[in-house]
Amino acid sequence: MEKCAALSAPHKAMRIICVPDEYEMGLAAARIMAALVRLKPDAILGLASGSTPLGAYAELIRMHREEDLDFSRITTFNPDEYIGLDKYHPQSYRVYMRDNFIDGVNIDPDNVHLPNGIAPDIGEECRAYDELLEARGFPDLQLLGIGTNGHIAFNEPAASFTAETHMVALTEDTIDSNQRFFDRREEMPTQAITVGMRGIMSSSRILLIASGKGKARAIAQTCFGPVTPQVPGSILQLHRDVIVIADREALSETDITC
Ligand code: GLP
Repeated sequence: MEKCAALSAPHKAMRIICVPDEYEMGLAAARIMAALVRLKPDAILGLASGSTPLGAYAELIRMHREEDLDFSRITTFNPDEYIGLDKYHPQSYRVYMRDNFIDGVNIDPDNVHLPNGIAPDIGEECRAYDELLEARGFPDLQLLGIGTNGHIAFNEPAASFTAETHMVALTEDTIDSNQRFFDRREEMPTQAITVGMRGIMSSSRILLIASGKGKARAIAQTCFGPVTPQVPGSILQLHRDVIVIADREALSETDITC
């Protein structure tokens, strides 16, 4: 059973849905995304990488195959990519998206966008990505996971929020968390390109998903802590339409239960 928390200001725009486990989180996220795809067949989806969205992508692929969910006019933007991994590297987000979602549905490959992590001029790549987002329009829905340190996309804790797409040095915390995807820690890139807070906050709707105890602190701080660049996800409290879908463990440092 899903349970919604009615929250008082300043969190009133954040709807928090508690689900029992990671599996239910994926189903709930996929249902919200599928509803948008059906209501707006030419929607722009902001997607996310990492392990958290895998269940949602699997369910969307199932809906495409078994329930005629049509992605032929959908455009996608991913907010981040590692610097230094080419588009064939198995841990690049481009390959991740292809293997876990794009190849399973009928999205036109020309409408799939990610930053290029091996662009010769990263600064220029960041500017061009912002221009492309401006030209195509910001996402109707931005799916987000969250780092254990509260990062969203690859906006790491910092002294201030950065608006534009930019290059970021990954924190030790993030390297510790994500090195599990690489054979050796030394193979894990230490820099990334990430869409900044303007790109994220300009999305019409934001769907933040989290599961497991490891995310409990980040979720509590993001939803109920002060808005601070030290917890990048906390900026979402200022967005008018955020849905948080988190499992019991991820909500275990809040008062929300289900
Ligand atoms: C990664 C990604 C984020 C992701 C987050 C959580 O570093 N850049 O987009 O949301 O960290 O990852 P995971 O879902 O694997 O816990």
